[in-house]
Amino acid sequence: MMLSSCFTNSTSQSLWEMICFGFWGMMRYFVVFFLVIASIFSYGVAMHSGEQPLSRIAIHRTTFAIDGSAYIKAYPLVLGLKGQSSEWVTLEYSYSNPSNSDWIGVFSPANFNDSTCEQENEREFPPLLCTAPIKYQYANYTSHEYSRTGKGSLKLQLINQRADFSFALFSGGLSNPKLITVSNRVAFANPKVPVYPRLSQGKSWNEMAVTWTSGYGIDEAVPFVEWGVQGGPKMHSPAGTLTFSRNSMCGSPARTVGWRDPGFLHTSFLKDLWPNIKYKYRLGHRLFNGSYIWSQSYSFKASPYPGQDSLQRVVIFGDMGKAEADGSNEYNNFQPGSLNTTYQIIKDLNNVDMVIHIGDICYANGYISQWDQFTSQIEPIASVVPYMIGSGNHERDWPGTGSFYGNKDSGGECGVLAETMFYVPAENRAKFWYSTDYGMFRFCIADTEHDWRPGTEQYKFIKHCLSSVDRQKQPWLIFLSHRVLGYSSGVYYGLEGSFEEPMGRESLQELWQKYKVDIAFYGHVHNYERTCPIYQNTCVRNASHHYSGPFAATTHVVVGGGGASLSTFSPVRTLWSYFQDFDFGFVKLTAFNHSSLLFEYKKSSDGRVYDHFTISRDYRDILVCTVDSCSRTTLAT
Ligand SMILES: *[C@@H]1O[C@H](CO)[C@@H](O)[C@H](O)[C@H]1NC(C)=O
Ligand SMILES: *[C@@H]1O[C@H](CO)[C@@H](O)[C@H](O)[C@H]1NC(C)=O
Ligand SMILES: *[C@@H]1O[C@H](CO)[C@@H](O)[C@H](O)[C@H]1NC(C)=O
Ligand SMILES: *[C@@H]1O[C@H](CO)[C@@H](O)[C@H](O)[C@H]1NC(C)=O
Ligand SMILES: *[C@@H]1O[C@H](CO)[C@@H](O)[C@H](O)[C@H]1NC(C)=O
Ligand SMILES: *[C@@H]1O[C@H](CO)[C@@H](O)[C@H](O)[C@H]1NC(C)=O
Repeated sequence: MMLSSCFTNSTSQSLWEMICFGFWGMMRYFVVFFLVIASIFSYGVAMHSGEQPLSRIAIHRTTFAIDGSAYIKAYPLVLGLKGQSSEWVTLEYSYSNPSNSDWIGVFSPANFNDSTCEQENEREFPPLLCTAPIKYQYANYTSHEYSRTGKGSLKLQLINQRADFSFALFSGGLSNPKLITVSNRVAFANPKVPVYPRLSQGKSWNEMAVTWTSGYGIDEAVPFVEWGVQGGPKMHSPAGTLTFSRNSMCGSPARTVGWRDPGFLHTSFLKDLWPNIKYKYRLGHRLFNGSYIWSQSYSFKASPYPGQDSLQRVVIFGDMGKAEADGSNEYNNFQPGSLNTTYQIIKDLNNVDMVIHIGDICYANGYISQWDQFTSQIEPIASVVPYMIGSGNHERDWPGTGSFYGNKDSGGECGVLAETMFYVPAENRAKFWYSTDYGMFRFCIADTEHDWRPGTEQYKFIKHCLSSVDRQKQPWLIFLSHRVLGYSSGVYYGLEGSFEEPMGRESLQELWQKYKVDIAFYGHVHNYERTCPIYQNTCVRNASHHYSGPFAATTHVVVGGGGASLSTFSPVRTLWSYFQDFDFGFVKLTAFNHSSLLFEYKKSSDGRVYDHFTISRDYRDILVCTVDSCSRTTLAT
């Protein structure tokens, strides 16, 4: 049959070749079926996170309407000639039948793949395109006359993502796209160079883990970090290499249109660091012919000795996400605050020692290209201070894969991206709970996407993390988790009447009280809220801007306004909710010494402080017996 032979021909060619070498003619009237993307969002208790903009392009049927007179020219052809991993390209385009719904998709690799896609999606014909664009923008975005003149230009920012790029013009809007034309290719001078280092606290206080991404596998080059103190001898530390395949993904779109080769993820452990010393480092790959590929140079300051008395500052937030600085992907209304949060932290980076991002990292939701974009966005932070992450529903949840919640919030990633793109000092990176010490702080980071209740492995971990800290050395004890195990007036939690994740604090509040956790932080609800020091639903002390004397109870803080669309508060006013802010922001903790801690909530829009409190106390104040924390004493002398 004519049609099937036409189709057989087409699948043997790449789409790019068909268009660029004119084979498209025989395809002119052929209806092409894009992959069907199942709705990837669930609307349980999960807060409004909006819709991943790339998922809007998932249309069931797309006509192929190549127009020989239309064109897109992209330049410069070679990017990153000065070694940079991000550069702006200019597109110039023309189409004789323009409309305001025309849009441009950025594809990488440029030669978008027309081979048979995974059998996961229902379709009548093999789809022509197996991959979503890495981003998109309307053709009229900066050329307001485009719909009249058919001529336009656009500037887009590209980052080095291990492959070349092409740009395709579509008419018919996102819901009924017709492919009109494809541009020339552009590429970074070396697409495989090591990029986007992210630091993490290692398993011990004097170890820093460096994780990065490259295009060099272990059969091509040896990865390592070259590092040392300024002016001192340079050391080389070996790196391990991980990657994963489409088969590691648990479902669509991560396994289908959202799939993109993640390249290689390398981690090196820089050991035996001297406390507080500044180190320089760069990422290296030694090719087997003896030549070296280097990243640019970076530096970090080693962590303080646990218990050390010195100024120590930690920034905490959840649910930040990513956004495109060039305005692409629906004008950034998916995580509207994320760039502001990122920029404010960069601005204050000289006064920040560590960052903790408690889950809902980049909301790739199965569009894997977005993880590169995120690691590029945070590079100025993560390459300089440890960037510690927690696991959220958007990293982990997928039905039938062991997540505590059976929703589809991870878009099929089921934790693999978060566990491989970032290092955390967990015993098992698939079980995302860990403890990390920074000077006078102990952080116990729980994983709400796995069960935390008594009798579980995680409960044992939480108890051990809280009970094993020496408060004379580390007076500041902090608990963190993605979902709100403590208290939140978020509208959904309010509707449930629980003001918490079901089964949250019931099983944990005794531990927080007994071990005198100073502050518990949560994300998931996209706003800011602070409680009074509270135990068993009752304020043990009135909320204030200054606490002193013996520990009374834990203060609970929701700091989920890192960037994703804001969540409203329940109209029900509780006695324990002290400060609420419907805006984007983050918290900064400053430990001045063993007896003075400053808590500040800053807005991402201006970096100024909108809520704050201090805790002043002595060591003996933590030893005092409070409800549920009294240890046995004897009358014997
Ligand atoms: C450009 O196109 C978008 C999407 O169709 C539309 O919402 C917007 O109003 C258009 N802008 C101009 C200046 O026409
Ligand atoms: C297209 O994808 C298939 C299956 O994933 C792969 O085997 C093939 O090498 C890819 N082709 C190109 C040109 O990338
Ligand atoms: C080693 O291989 C790389 C990549 O193929 C090449 O650019 C480089 O010039 C080679 N170096 C030597 C010393 O042959
Ligand atoms: C909080 O303040 C109110 C009014 O000043 C007072 O009546 C109440 O006893 C205080 N509660 C606590 C727990 O200190
Ligand atoms: C701790 O730091 C605070 C705030 O800077 C200061 O007021 C206090 O005197 C310091 N205490 C000690 C014991 O150094
Ligand atoms: C980001 O910051 C700018 C500058 O302060 C502000 O005008 C803008 O409203 C902020 N954006 C969001 C989404 O808060």
